Amino acid sequence: MILLDGKATSAAIKEEIAQQVDQLKSKGAKVPHLAAILVGSDGASQTYVNAKVKACERVGFESTLIELPADTTEDKLMETIDQLNNDDAIDGFIVQLPLPKHIDEDKVTLRVAPHKDVDGFHPENVGRMALGLPTFLPATPNGVMEMLGRYNIETSGKHCVVIGRSNIVGTPMSILMSRNSNPGNSTVTLTHSRTANLKEVCLSADIIIVALGKPKFLTADMVKEGAVVVDVGIHRIEDSSKKSGFRLVGDVDFETVAPKCAAISPVPGGVGPMTIASLLQNGLKAVLKN
Ligand code: GUN
Repeated sequence: MILLDGKATSAAIKEEIAQQVDQLKSKGAKVPHLAAILVGSDGASQTYVNAKVKACERVGFESTLIELPADTTEDKLMETIDQLNNDDAIDGFIVQLPLPKHIDEDKVTLRVAPHKDVDGFHPENVGRMALGLPTFLPATPNGVMEMLGRYNIETSGKHCVVIGRSNIVGTPMSILMSRNSNPGNSTVTLTHSRTANLKEVCLSADIIIVALGKPKFLTADMVKEGAVVVDVGIHRIEDSSKKSGFRLVGDVDFETVAPKCAAISPVPGGVGPMTIASLLQNGLKAVLKN
């Protein structure tokens, strides 16, 4: 069984990006400058945004973090987005999701200028992705693609089952896996809460990408021998045996599923770090304009 080590793979990508940043610097060219807007004080979002800022520093990008209080109005957020859209120093930015309930996420996504949308969430960029045109690819699904590619996992002609149809993971994941590319060229089944016979569908999968947000959802009886399993979930569950009182688990019941797999990504240390590497790749794209 191969462990798809996202931590090591992400470190290798970051090293490659750092070298490209050094080359830009030595030519006197602009170094990528990314910004993040964080509204409110959701603990998980703060952790993710801080990790993104740290990753920028590590590869030599400039970064700006804009923290707004939870009661920020939608208008004020739109104004902040417009400022970043119009600021030539900023090459790309993200608005960390989820947002407080009184703010319409769709409106926010539409307001980010497509050429600065390093999350790849704007409908124009989602459309470009679906058509296979150059664009910013969404970080988590692209991180999974990078992981499969760098481990030389054969995807062409394979049956790939994606569990979960969210806008930021499952749906774009299904598009990327079915595109005429390598990795890609899979026959994809996108499954969700209304899918009938999910277990049977999963048992016919060569590759299962799990992104539905339920701890330990995928169990050994749903996985065929020799399958490749990628776990996009991350959850804190109580564990009194740990000093912290909790541990992190994914959407996959790793202990029972792993022995059946040809390859599997762990949680933590799997898809999570790949997501950050992907965002940095988009940051580089934003300055190279390719
Ligand atoms: N929340 C969870 N994942 C993401 C992401 O990739 N981008 C943003 N902006 N928010 C998120």
